[in-house]
Amino acid sequence: MTDTAARPAPTPASQGAANQAGAHINRDAFAEAQDFLPLNGIDHVEFWVGNARQASAYYRALWGFTPVAFAGLETGIRDRASYVMRRNDITFVFTAPLTPDGEIAEHVREHGDGVKDIAFAVDDVVASFRETTSRGARPAIEPVELDGGEDGVLRRSAVFTYGETRHSFVDRRDYHGAFAPGYRRVRNPARAAQGLSLLEVDHCVGNVALGEMNRFVDFYRDVFGFSQLIHYDDKVIHTGYSALMSKVMTNGNGRVKFPINEPASGKKRSQIQEYLDWYRSPGCQHIALRTEDIVGTVRQLRENGVEFLGLPHEYYATLGDRVGDVGVPMETLEELGIEADRDEEGYLLQIFTRPVQDRPTFFFEVIERHGSRGFGVGNFKALFEAIEREQAKRGNL
Ligand code: FE2
Repeated sequence: MTDTAARPAPTPASQGAANQAGAHINRDAFAEAQDFLPLNGIDHVEFWVGNARQASAYYRALWGFTPVAFAGLETGIRDRASYVMRRNDITFVFTAPLTPDGEIAEHVREHGDGVKDIAFAVDDVVASFRETTSRGARPAIEPVELDGGEDGVLRRSAVFTYGETRHSFVDRRDYHGAFAPGYRRVRNPARAAQGLSLLEVDHCVGNVALGEMNRFVDFYRDVFGFSQLIHYDDKVIHTGYSALMSKVMTNGNGRVKFPINEPASGKKRSQIQEYLDWYRSPGCQHIALRTEDIVGTVRQLRENGVEFLGLPHEYYATLGDRVGDVGVPMETLEELGIEADRDEEGYLLQIFTRPVQDRPTFFFEVIERHGSRGFGVGNFKALFEAIEREQAKRGNL
């Protein structure tokens, strides 16, 4: 991950874009990260929602996820229904409460639909729990061995991060069942949407309260052993109206990347503050899914009914000067609403959906990387202005 020698030399345009945006990539970030908490990547992301059956249908029919496992009344689970959906290396779990009492119902009442758990695959759930809680993480689930009978044993523990969001540690090396004990495999799943390249979770962004960004940067450094991958100069990204600050944390093998945002004061309410107001606490703002065919995938997602943010023609009028050749005609990028950015390591193409639930909170990004390990900081201003146009329509600006 740290070998940058094979990447193309930067062009003047790329250096200009990087300097203008004030983003600096810390090439030593992966080496600096501590190894007391080896993470094998993101095992799954669990959403707590009001209606998991319908949420799973949305991800199947629009996003191409295949139902792989289910837990609920039919499997002897009395308080919740969970649907496990998979596409390539992306596993999402949608869980809804079956009763008005308990933590899931309470969570949905307070936050609406949202990300509850960004779970890591690990080799040792006991050590992961011990190393993080001894460094200050708040315990969520003590280490447990879930007995799956002839399917084997699944080990798990969890700690809290920002807000009510959790990080589970999952060791499934001795488990061979559908997803976890209590789940059954889905036989003959309904057909998922076709023609989409969605490969893995690229990054997960957390929104935290004003003044809290550095606390969570320290949290991921001290408790999880992460290091800071990207630092945005003077940390403030602003439009005419609003502003935010952002830092990106990564683990030692670079498989996990967590940008952390906090609102900054502007003339009007920042999109981060809108999220905090409606989620009613810090939480996961967006998850980026990596693609190797953003043009074909976005075309298909739009056809399936996924709604994306729109950017004005002016953005595309100057884009070619800023990013150079990105392998896709500017007219195609504009037609589909795809953004481009370039830094000293390469370029990326990205697009952002509208919020995927009724509250203006969580959304998705689709990203195609060509050398760049950045996050599209050159697009932040245009992107935020697009978000602000939508905030104004919602009466939240
Ligand atoms: Fe992102």
